[in-house]
Amino acid sequence: MEQNSLIKGKIHYVGVNDRSKYLFEGMWPLPYGVSYNSYLIDDEKVTLVDTVDINFFEVYINKIKRIIGDRAIDYLIINHMEPDHSGSIRLIKQQYPNIIIVGNKQTFGMIEGYYGVTGQQLLVKDCDTLDLGYHKITFYLTPMVHWPETMMSFDTTEGVLFSGDAFGCFGALNGGFIDTRINTDIYWDEMVRYYSNIVGKYGSPVQRALQKLNGLPMTAICSTHGPVWTDHILKVGSIYDKLSKYESEEGVVIAYGSMYGNTEQMAEVIAEELSAQGIKNIVMHNVSKSNASYIIADIFKYKGLIVGSPTYSNQIYPEIESLLSKILVREIKDRYLGLFGSFTWAGAAVKRMVDFATQSKYELVGDTVEMKQGMNDIIHAQCKKLGRDMAQRLIADRK
Ligand code: FEO
Repeated sequence: MEQNSLIKGKIHYVGVNDRSKYLFEGMWPLPYGVSYNSYLIDDEKVTLVDTVDINFFEVYINKIKRIIGDRAIDYLIINHMEPDHSGSIRLIKQQYPNIIIVGNKQTFGMIEGYYGVTGQQLLVKDCDTLDLGYHKITFYLTPMVHWPETMMSFDTTEGVLFSGDAFGCFGALNGGFIDTRINTDIYWDEMVRYYSNIVGKYGSPVQRALQKLNGLPMTAICSTHGPVWTDHILKVGSIYDKLSKYESEEGVVIAYGSMYGNTEQMAEVIAEELSAQGIKNIVMHNVSKSNASYIIADIFKYKGLIVGSPTYSNQIYPEIESLLSKILVREIKDRYLGLFGSFTWAGAAVKRMVDFATQSKYELVGDTVEMKQGMNDIIHAQCKKLGRDMAQRLIADRK
């Protein structure tokens, strides 16, 4: 019997670590890797909760067999169908042909569509229960956290929540998988980045899920990415609560594009004035160097956003255009916005970015600043004023 994998009761961790993938979803960097978590409940009814990316199936099945040997698995609970978790369903079904797949009415069509897997199913509705012997599982449907079929499974015996993507973070697990046995420092920023990049659009569904879970006597949160949370349940809950309400701290993200350093000089003047006015949290991102993943995470953190773009072929600079699109897709709410930019013979970027202000419904702070060619005293003063106006708007919110 494998004991290092035990979480509590008869629940084991059987997840895997991916330290090879560069970009999650083909977009988001993974400097610390990522884990795909799955859980095995070695009860009278042996039960698997979610699976792992198919590329790790051999490691995964060996972990399972080290715990249950040649015994069969009775149930496979599918909380979420995104392929980083559902990828091994077909191979699990081949290993355990009599396994009963547990899901809701949104789940089974996806299983057949992705993997051609049919067979024995147990359809559950909100608050249905499943008795495994020692452990008793209650299901909570939590659509759009982060796909339509997502649900969570709560073990009422030990107070363990299998939460799917919710409460997850980037970062592989280095040895230990429970927060009490590892240094958790790297995971907090990686949680903000994970939430803002992956789940960020779904603030309202996350809020509804948090309300549904409110009051459950949780002793552990077992999500599909990152550590099992036991000591930090309140902290993790409060991070997800704050992010899903789009709550922000005092501070400003200045995101700019600059081909030859002229727009960058404007950004520097604005930032210096913000600092001179008493704003301490100022994050500057050259969009051609900073990956959008980190810029979006910072925009989730801070109330102020100042965007600078050169005019490029009569358009917004493409890297800025891409960032603005990512912001709109995530429907990040309630920010203060400043705009600036530059051009050589005909200005277009700043005018076009005003459309972004309308679409995002952000409060436009100060006057937009548009520079022809290089810095001069007039533009310098206008940039300072934009920095000052943003600082004063933020300071006015101090209690
Ligand atoms: Fe980790 Fe939405 O999948």
